[in-house]
Amino acid sequence: MILVYSLGGSILAGRDAESLKEYAAALKELAADHQIYVVVGGGKIAREYIGKARALGASEAFCDLIGIEATRLNSALLMAALGEAAPQEIPDSYALAARLAERGKIVVLGGMAPGQTTDAVAALLAELVHADKLIVATSVDGVYSADPEVDPKAKKYTKMTCRELASLSMETTLSAGSRSPVDPLAAKIIERSSIPTVVVYGGDVENLKKAAEGGHFGTEIS
Ligand code: UTP
Repeated sequence: MILVYSLGGSILAGRDAESLKEYAAALKELAADHQIYVVVGGGKIAREYIGKARALGASEAFCDLIGIEATRLNSALLMAALGEAAPQEIPDSYALAARLAERGKIVVLGGMAPGQTTDAVAALLAELVHADKLIVATSVDGVYSADPEVDPKAKKYTKMTCRELASLSMETTLSAGSRSPVDPLAAKIIERSSIPTVVVYGGDVENLKKAAEGGHFGTEIS
């Protein structure tokens, strides 16, 4: 299969070297059977730097550029853990990402353009390379009817349609304080191309394989 992973920055950056090695080993194992792309998020460092830049009066577009740098920094860390399994270059275009995969390596990339998040990058890449699955490995274990940290009655969907995801992501961005695990642009792209998508808790390395091959407890979107 062709698999595109959207890996939350917080999933990676909090790990020590040994644990990063384990994460990389799981990806390498998957790459033996599948073509893998990993889009890495900005995590804590992005939020910290964007917060400071914003307080200094930087424009939102400039803050986005800082965020992109953070995603590329996290990408570089994953590349270090993957060693020769990854091309030693972070693609700055979708075309280059697809080209690097031709050598059978695990392609690692970060953000691309201001005004979006790495979920959208992953969804666009999934379209471009005709991915069989888009796997969102994030800090929550699936898509909920409301933010589970705020609303104790929030229930997890085991299955939903691409259209339901798109409307849920619009609703949750409009109400302050709640966050959809997938940003609205990504959800729209998933919807327009009916990309089979799985949302799982990325902190458990086993979920990378289970999301691709079955047996996970996240949300299946189709
Ligand atoms: P993330 O993709 O990590 O955003 O990119 P996020 O979803 O807010 O972070 P998590 O999932 O909670 O960790 C970090 C920031 O980088 C910029 C945006 O400002 C984003 O918030 N960014 C990222 C872009 O502007 N363009 C991109 O293509 C990617």
